[in-house]
Amino acid sequence: MNLKPWIAIAAISLSGAAFAQDSSSLSVEGEALLTETAAPEHMENVDTIYSGWRFRSGETQALQTDDFDNPAMIFVDKGIDLWAKVDGTEGKSCSSCHEDVADFAGLRTTLPRVEDAGLVTMENLVNECRTERMGAEAWKYSKGNMTAMTALIGLQSRGMAMNVAIDGDAAPFWEKGKELYYTRVGQLDMSCSNCHEDNYGTMIRADHLSQGQINGFPTYRLKNAKLNSIHGRFKGCMKNIRATPFAEGGEEFKALELYLASRGEGLVVETPSVRN
Ligand code: HEC
Ligand code: HEC
Repeated sequence: MNLKPWIAIAAISLSGAAFAQDSSSLSVEGEALLTETAAPEHMENVDTIYSGWRFRSGETQALQTDDFDNPAMIFVDKGIDLWAKVDGTEGKSCSSCHEDVADFAGLRTTLPRVEDAGLVTMENLVNECRTERMGAEAWKYSKGNMTAMTALIGLQSRGMAMNVAIDGDAAPFWEKGKELYYTRVGQLDMSCSNCHEDNYGTMIRADHLSQGQINGFPTYRLKNAKLNSIHGRFKGCMKNIRATPFAEGGEEFKALELYLASRGEGLVVETPSVRN
């Protein structure tokens, strides 16, 4: 099956609705967070970038404005417990070596990054400490312990602008991610860009299409009542267009993550965000 993109879009019933966010200014715990800014220069087809928060209903938006109401915070608490929990053959916890998780402020904004000629994500950094420094087992890429920890670490950068390196060593990975973003795949023969660049602001089934930004991850979804990783979301989008998803933690998704992070340059970290 090789549908033309417009037929594919019609096939999943995308209807042109207004860009109708309920509220445009996000304040979390009294701190104003920027939800739109000028697109970075490398984005040729978009002038303004918007946080996914802008495309949610007023009710969903409200859950993210107060940490007491934010359902993701239960998982951040779990991250705090894991931070202090001894695990592995070395008898250590994260806190044995890292004085304060707040020392990771800013880290979320710079990931993924290149190390030893490969891309590393937040999940890779956490697992490297577990396997190499604690003698503990790696956590599964998108499962509960990992998302609790990445939420706790990501939260330390809340309000700080995304700022990944895309030149130098990172350039080939960024190019690969860009190529993946624009490549049509799956039975519906669609690319990420067909939805998140060409059609953001419109309704797809009952969902309001955003630009597919990743500045709020891991994100709590009301749909499955848990934290969802970046790669888990990519996987879900690929399944929706009937494509065989790449592996979570694999090279393709890491490159795509770098490219998406760069499309969010200047938007601030909202971790942990709330979505439907
Ligand atoms: C035995 C000591 C040790 C333990 C235990 C340990 N780490 Fe690390 N960790 C390090 C060292 C050393 C580095 C590399 C140098 C640095 O960035 O501090 C590092 C780096 C990191 C980084 C990357 C920081 C950056 O700015 O690049 C993260 C994230 C991290 N650790 C998280 C964790 C978590 C989460 C745990 C518990 C699951 C943990 N670490 C347990 C020693 C440890
Ligand atoms: C058929 C349309 C479609 C395609 C193609 C698609 N997505 Fe999505 N995506 C959605 C919908 C619908 C949502 C949920 C509403 C929203 O946030 O846009 C979503 C959500 C997301 C989100 C979460 C945004 C947030 O703020 O929480 C990310 C990230 C994302 N997609 C990335 C991708 C990537 C990467 C690809 C290509 C591999 C892709 N999507 C392809 C429809 C699509």
